Amino acid sequence: MDLFDGIYKGKKVLVTGDTGFKGSWLCIWLKEMGADVYGYALPATSSRDNYVTCGLQSRIHHADGDIRDKEKLISFFNTVKPDVAFHLAAQPLVIESYNNPHYNFETNLMGTVNFFEAVRQCSSVKAAINVTTDKCYQNNEWVWGYRENDPMGGDDPYSASKGCSELITASYIKSFFSKPGTAHVASARAGNVIGGGDWADNRIIPDMMRAYMTNSISVIRNPASVRPWQFVLEPLFGYLKLGEKLLTDGKHFTGGWNFGPAAYENYTVGNVVNQVKTRIPSLKIDAPETGEKLHEAGLLKLDITKAVNLLGWKPKLNFEQTIAFTIDGYLFEIEEKGNIYQSRVEQINAYCKH
Ligand SMILES: NC(=O)c1ccc[n+]([C@@H]2O[C@H](COP(=O)([O-])OP(=O)(O)OC[C@H]3O[C@@H](n4cnc5c(N)ncnc54)[C@H](O)[C@@H]3O)[C@@H](O)[C@H]2O)c1
Repeated sequence: MDLFDGIYKGKKVLVTGDTGFKGSWLCIWLKEMGADVYGYALPATSSRDNYVTCGLQSRIHHADGDIRDKEKLISFFNTVKPDVAFHLAAQPLVIESYNNPHYNFETNLMGTVNFFEAVRQCSSVKAAINVTTDKCYQNNEWVWGYRENDPMGGDDPYSASKGCSELITASYIKSFFSKPGTAHVASARAGNVIGGGDWADNRIIPDMMRAYMTNSISVIRNPASVRPWQFVLEPLFGYLKLGEKLLTDGKHFTGGWNFGPAAYENYTVGNVVNQVKTRIPSLKIDAPETGEKLHEAGLLKLDITKAVNLLGWKPKLNFEQTIAFTIDGYLFEIEEKGNIYQSRVEQINAYCKH
């Protein structure tokens, strides 16, 4: 796979959160590009995790570890001596952040600080990317997209922790990573990411797939809510592109970057349900409402002009293709069609051809 000018071939890449949904996909992509991949995270929690079903434990070098354990993380960095580091180890769920705000803040704030301390103390690192979210912005209920220089915010503990993670990133860039010879550092903000291998609780597609597997009824909450749906490879393509630019022309690419859907791609939860049903007609849904107008409350959109113009990144898939890639990924796994790692690689190849 010769992408990103072959920059990742032979590079040591360290991914925190490699046992998670996005981290595991990122490791597969890096591996296929010839990178030497190292992961640091809590152990996988279920045999369904993408990390497990793809056999990543025998394909990459993984260390079990808590991101809150600064000494262990620094020691792992100093043993690996990576060229590039991606930070995805986090508490990623809004509902969970209400259940356990202290853990949420500890993991997402001090986890970020520990990541940057490790980068700072490991001179091999040339580029580092902190993965946050569109929810890092102060939500003013605007109908237009947030730009990278809009204020950070967040009412629920998850969003606030990601806004803080962004402030920590900006502080480390200004205070420590602006000097010659230091790593080039950026942060990446994406939307609602979907794709095969995500089995997290309280997420719409995993909930529907669990209902399909058990022949039960999936109850849809908030069918009118608009979300920035993205197939998992879309933001990952952005992170990898950003990593390439940080490695080759670093100082022009530090700071925050949005990776969201195109501005006109506004789809509700109800739209997603209906599109999934076109792929799985037997899916049982509890009376989803459909055709709601775009409603402003809770609407959060990203302005992607900066990434489009300066990185040469843009979303490749429309809404129908996003759902098709996602459901194909789940069905391959559920219907036991073959080697799941290979099927993820085929999706990466198919995505790149778009
Ligand atoms: N999935 C989405 O829709 C989405 C959207 C925007 C941003 N994000 C961000 O992307 C990143 C990855 O999200 P995901 O959906 O893959 O989540 P996930 O829950 O699937 O994976 C999280 C990873 O972080 C690790 N982790 C969690 N707490 C840890 C701790 N205390 N110490 C060490 N490792 C820990 C887990 O072991 C796992 O590897 C997160 O930062 C999340 O906030 C996700």
